[in-house]
This record gives sequence, structure tokens and C-alpha cells, in this order.
Amino acid sequence: YCNFLKEKSRKEILEILCGGLQREEYRGYDSAGLGVDGDKAGEIIYFKEVGKVAGLRKQIASSSVDFNKTFVSQVSIAHTRWATHGPPSTVNCHPLRSDLTSEFLVVHNGIVTNNAELRMVLQKRGYTFESETDTEAVAKLLKYVYDSTADKANLTFTQLVKTVLKELQGSFAFVIKSVHWPNEVVTARRGSPLLIGVKTDKKLKVDFVDVEFAGQDADNVKAENLQPTSPSSLLAPPSANPKVLRTQSRAFMSEDGLPQPIEFFVASDAAAIVEHTKRVLYLEDNDIAHIADGELHIHRLRGKDDQDQSPAQIASTRSIETLEIEIAAIMKGKFDHFMQKEIYEQPESVVNTMRGRVNFDTNQITLGGLRAYLPIIRRARRMVFIACGTSYHSCIATRAIFEELTEIPISVELASDFLDRKTPIFRDDVCVLLSQSGETADTILALRYCLERGALCVGVVNTVGSTLSRETHCGVHINAGPEIGVASTKAYTSQYTALLMMAIQLSEDRISLTARRNQIIAGLHEMPSQIKKVLELDSLIQQLAKTITGNKSLLLMGRGFQNATCLEGALKIKEISYMHSEGILAGELKHGPLALIDENMPVIIIMTQDSLYPKVQSALAQITARKAQPIILCNEDDEGIPNNAKTIRVPKSVDCLQGMLNIIPLQLLSYHLAVGQGYDVDFPRNLAKSVTTE
Ligand code: F6R
Repeated sequence: YCNFLKEKSRKEILEILCGGLQREEYRGYDSAGLGVDGDKAGEIIYFKEVGKVAGLRKQIASSSVDFNKTFVSQVSIAHTRWATHGPPSTVNCHPLRSDLTSEFLVVHNGIVTNNAELRMVLQKRGYTFESETDTEAVAKLLKYVYDSTADKANLTFTQLVKTVLKELQGSFAFVIKSVHWPNEVVTARRGSPLLIGVKTDKKLKVDFVDVEFAGQDADNVKAENLQPTSPSSLLAPPSANPKVLRTQSRAFMSEDGLPQPIEFFVASDAAAIVEHTKRVLYLEDNDIAHIADGELHIHRLRGKDDQDQSPAQIASTRSIETLEIEIAAIMKGKFDHFMQKEIYEQPESVVNTMRGRVNFDTNQITLGGLRAYLPIIRRARRMVFIACGTSYHSCIATRAIFEELTEIPISVELASDFLDRKTPIFRDDVCVLLSQSGETADTILALRYCLERGALCVGVVNTVGSTLSRETHCGVHINAGPEIGVASTKAYTSQYTALLMMAIQLSEDRISLTARRNQIIAGLHEMPSQIKKVLELDSLIQQLAKTITGNKSLLLMGRGFQNATCLEGALKIKEISYMHSEGILAGELKHGPLALIDENMPVIIIMTQDSLYPKVQSALAQITARKAQPIILCNEDDEGIPNNAKTIRVPKSVDCLQGMLNIIPLQLLSYHLAVGQGYDVDFPRNLAKSVTTE
């Protein structure tokens, strides 16, 4: 957070930082820390705490700092951590410093993959590390390059950071502060999201200032080539006249060009800053933003996309946008947890996904973001759906209906495995990449892999402005609203809806399928009220959860459209209640999983009425013959269920839509299993909401 010519007390600054951290906490909550200016020039005050931001707040409240001290201009940085290198601890907590006097302070999301080499090189040059983090190597590298620069008077903060970034491999979003450039901050991204909020009472002038072409960049030696024992590029400090391939820079200043009070907020997502400003600018990979004297300049690190992007193209993708999210959307309101709120939001979030797109009078669906690309998609040789976790399950859930309606073969891929296998992708493939956050590293890497091979890439994304939504050719925003709970719930039903809408629109020229499409559209119309009915089962599910708690494992079985329900239900249960749970395709039962069944094994069998109902009945018979006493998730009016069985009865929908209703009791079950055992459902151990590392 930076303020220029705008007086702020330390108390206000700390509140802005802690408030922002609390809203970003769902991204990482192993530990939290911040660094603010001290009372004397160059002095930094740190607060660091393992665990949640609430602990950090306590530490701040009980400290003896002068909360009333005011700053007319200052820069402060803060971070919530999800550990990659080194366990959660105060020493590993960000900001990390270059040395005991804190010449450079760094907060970082992502992973520096050549951390080990960098550490070795720096240790050989006498640096002692305090933490186990990869971030500390970056702080120390900044100091090392700074100290090695002869002509410090001509060295700019941006130039220094550029030199250091060129040595780094991996993914990152950095915010860097230095005593050598007080009241300035440099922030940069490659692979991890970053945005800058701007708050000012005056009108902003957005100026395209300059573009430089200065020949080849001779300093671009990669750290992978470094030999710790031999001289490396680290010995080459930035020259006074840097050779930069291309720099583009824009300034944001008042229309009259005079200095003005202004505040900047740098964050990894909009939730952290929306209560202060809705005017934001999203940084792209290889952007380096420098904020000083109330102005923001964006520079480019040489990136491979620069080769084919004109300066005008670069400029057109960096404009100030107005956020559409409201603060209420990122608050819990009357609910105990975000997850609970998001489960209960589903009647509305599903409507929001359909809003303005489904015409229930004419039975037509129009996804504006795809319109221009429909002919290409319809001609696709095959479609490849790529995603992770819950987003992947929404692809499994809709694959069959997609194939039925479009007659295009679909393959569904987990992004990490898709990349591991170096899956062949061709120009006439259409790749559909799904992500709630739009920032999942594996999915973004898969996207870039598909783009490189010339496939048309379609994004299905919740977060507007995210990397995935910006880098795909076209796509659909699912409009579920911010999803804060780490366990994905409303995004699943909205992704499901979006994929169905896509399939229906793609098939609109197939007359023979009109009746099927109309049946599904009618089913979508009923969906919000049916979801509300399922939510009324909440207290029944809470009771069932009590009967399951304490068991080691829970199996979920179903087949056809309900395979995805089982997989997604099992994922929800394991991630927040820490109970082992497995989704089993009922058709596979005899091929192995039946061995797990006995009178002690809790089972939920999904037996809603579709064409596979008789086959699921056989599976039920097979497990009850082995003394299992399953809970049966079935339709409200199903009279064929044994009288003594425990049931969860849900309204009946169209076969391909039934999974949207069936997942809700399982979301509620996972919630109650976790809450009943005192687990923090919004912050499950070891997980982060947005997985921006591979
Ligand atoms: C599960 C969950 C994760 C995500 C996965 C992909 O509840 O939240 O499995 O679904 O990490 O995330 P997105 O959809 O943001 O790409």
C-alpha cells in the first residue's frame, strides 16, 4: 500500500494492510506478516505471526509502536503465506529482508525454482540466510547486485529489479521496497496474478509515454547456466546504460500534470482492495510496475511474447478497469463460513450464470463471448477439456451431454497430467480450459501449451480479469460471484451450467436434437427452485454427518452422470473434513472396490432415476449382500427404495442436470463433517484457494 501527498496515520496504514490480508487470507493462511516504515528514516517495523491474520492483528494491537505517527508519503508491504519452501514459521514469514538493516524487503507469491543455485552462489559470496524460503534469495540478490553496481547514482530501482528478475526461474509476483528508494515500490509478475488499484479524488490522465527499442539485451544470462564456482552473470551489475530490448512505460497522473494526493494498492486479487477503490489495472506476465512520486510506470522485462506484440498492443492491454464486485459479495453476512454462504448462494449463482444468456420463451441460448467462434468450434475435430480439481469434475459431469448434443468427441484432461504426457494437440482441436480462479498454474501452463500448438482456446472462468480469461481466444464467464471458501461449491454448479449452455448453443443447428435441448432448457428453468428445496435438507444432512463422523473412510458410488457427483463429493469430504473418501464408478465395483465393503464401511450410493437406475440397483444389491448399510441419495418420489434404508431424497431433474442437485447434499455433508469436528472449513490445512504454483 502506498500513499502520496495524502496524510495517513500508522494506525490507518496497518488497518489497510491487515484488512487487505484478511480478504486475501483464503489464498494462503500458514502465516502472515508485514513491514511498515519506522519512526526514523530507513527503519522498518515488522510484524509476523504464524497462523491467521487475526493473530497478526493481536500482535500489532499489543505492540508499543506509535500508532498516531503520520506519513504524508510511504510504502508498506504485507503478505499471507502458503508454504512452498520451508514450514510455516515467523522466520519464513514474508516480508523477507536482504540483511539485518533491511535494505531490501520482498513479498512473493509463486516459486523460484532455481532457488538452490542462487543460494549457493550467494552463500559463496558471504551471504548468510535467515529463512528457508526461496524469497530470501531474491532479497539478497537485490542487495548483491546493488552493492556491485559502481554507478549507483544512475541506477534506478526498476533497472535493479529487472537485472535480478532475469536471473530467476519459476513463477512469481513480487512487491519490493528498499531504503535506497524510499517511497517507491517495484512490483512484477511472471505467472502469478497481480493487480494495482488506484484511488484519487482527481481525474487521472492515462498517458502512453514512451517505447524504447535499444537492441539486444546482452545481460540476459540465465541462472540455469550459472556455475557456482565460476564467474556468473551475478557478477555483472546493471550497466549505467542498460541494453533493454523493449521498454514500454505509461504514467498515471492528474490531468493538469501537477502532483496530487493518490493511493496505490498492489494485490494478488481484487478482494483485497475493493473496499478502497474499484479502479484497477491488471499486470501481465513480464510487466514491472514502478510506483514513485504518485505516478505509476509499467516496464516490460524482455518476454517472448514481446517479439510479436506491437507497442500499441501492449498499451491496449493495460488500462484502468472498473471492478464490478461489491464489498458485500466478499463478506460472510449472516453465515458462519464462506463455504456455507456459497453453498446457500447456489440458487442465485446458477441464475447469474444463465442471466441474459438463456431465453426461456424461445428456448435459445446465446453466449456472447463465443458467438464469433461458433463456426470454428463446430468444425473441431475434437474438443479437449482441461482443468484441475473441482473444475475438472465439472468437465466429467457434462462430457456425456456435450458429446450427445455436439457429436464432437471430447477428451477430459487433468491439466498437470495433460502436460506431463505432452499430449498431442493440433490446430483443428478446440481446447476448453476451466478454472474458477483463472490463475491455477497447471491450467495456465496447459493453456499456453495449447496456444503454442495453434488450437483455439476457450476459457470458462469465474474471475473476471484473471490470467486465463485474458489469455484465451474467447470464453464464458460463469458469473458465480467471488468464491472465497477454499472448497469450491458454487463455482461447480455454475461451471456445470456454463458447459451445458455451451453444448446447447453449439448444437442449435441440429434439428433432430431440438426436443432434447428444450427438455434441458426447461430443466435449467426449474433448477434454482429445486436447489432451494435441496438446501432445506440441511438439518437432515447434519444428523447424517453425526452418524458418519469417526469413521476412517467414506465411499461414494454411482455411475453415468453421477460419476462426477461421486468424485466431487469425495473431494469435498477429504479436503475439509480430512476423512478419506473415494468416488467409485459403480460399474467398476466388481473389479476391485467391492473388497472394501463390509458392515463397517460407510457408503453413499447415488441412485437418482435415469437410464442407468437398474444397473445402480444391482450395485446396491451387491453391497447390501456384503452387509453394507448405505445411505441412498435418490429422488423424492422413488418408491423402489428399501423401507429400512437411510435416504437423502432430492427433486427429480433431467438426467444430465440431476448432478447439480445431487452434489448439494454432499457439499452440505462435507461442511457438517468438518464443522462437527471443529475444523476450519474455509481454511483447510495445507490447501490454498488459488494454486499458483505447479
Ligand atoms: C476443490 C478445489 C480445488 C480447485 C482446483 C482448481 O474444492 O477448490 O480442487 O477446484 O484447485 O482451481 P481453479 O478452478 O481455480 O482452477
